[in-house]
Amino acid sequence: MTNPSTAELYDGAADTWVRTEPVLLSDYTARPFVLERAGELEGARVLDLGCGEGYVSRQLAARAPARLLSVDISSGMIDLARAAEAAAPLGIDYRVASATELDLEEEFDLVLAVFLFNYLSCDEMCAVLKKVHDHLAPGGRFLFTAPHPAFPFLDRPAEPPFFFDTEGLDYFSARDRQLEGRIWRRDGESVPVRCVHKPMDEYSRALEQAGFTKAPRVTELTVTAEHLELDPEFFGPLRGLPLHVAFEVTRARD
Ligand SMILES: C[S@@+](CC[C@H](N)C(=O)[O-])C[C@H]1O[C@@H](n2cnc3c(N)ncnc32)[C@H](O)[C@@H]1O
Repeated sequence: MTNPSTAELYDGAADTWVRTEPVLLSDYTARPFVLERAGELEGARVLDLGCGEGYVSRQLAARAPARLLSVDISSGMIDLARAAEAAAPLGIDYRVASATELDLEEEFDLVLAVFLFNYLSCDEMCAVLKKVHDHLAPGGRFLFTAPHPAFPFLDRPAEPPFFFDTEGLDYFSARDRQLEGRIWRRDGESVPVRCVHKPMDEYSRALEQAGFTKAPRVTELTVTAEHLELDPEFFGPLRGLPLHVAFEVTRARD
């Protein structure tokens, strides 16, 4: 049986992604960090690549950016994002498109890609990084997250609240191979996720090739003491493990 395309995967699971407050594991362990690093956005031009049903975009929009363009390959996810925008308008411009084929004619001060690159091959990620670099204003920032590349290869069972199936591959032989996985919500539901594996050095190589000349700020994310206090049963199995990685790069001022 062949795996569904990414658009099919997300069209099929779109309803389980809808949320207005933290529900998914990564709503606790990754997105608050991204939102904190995004900072003040008043008057800024912002692009959210792989925006899903708009969970992160809506929180960015509340910070009064001058422009917020949010793009996703899944029409199911964008339909839900547009429904939320119609119910409570925030001025978000949603578009159905692949980040790999997106035509951009404007510049941005901040670009985000929250768990997008794990759906792209190494070559596709390179092409998107180049596009982002070329459409960032000088001094503009690109903030993106991915599953931590070590995570799928830790010796732990394929069980809640997060796993990827490595099919016998190892950290290096899995380069550019698509791993299927699941991530859980605190209410017990889970959503399918996938990860086209990239060893850590793939990111630094691709960023350099794309024209980012300054070293990225790299942050490895895991469960914190606050998470464990909130819900030890849910977060406990992942205590001390590298779950996600966040990269922040700045386009040099020419
Ligand atoms: C893990 S979800 C994250 C959604 C959102 N960024 C968030 O944090 O809630 C990944 C999203 O990336 C989208 N995606 C995957 N490949 C894409 C591509 N080539 N272009 C645009 N979006 C893509 C999926 O449809 C999905 O909505």
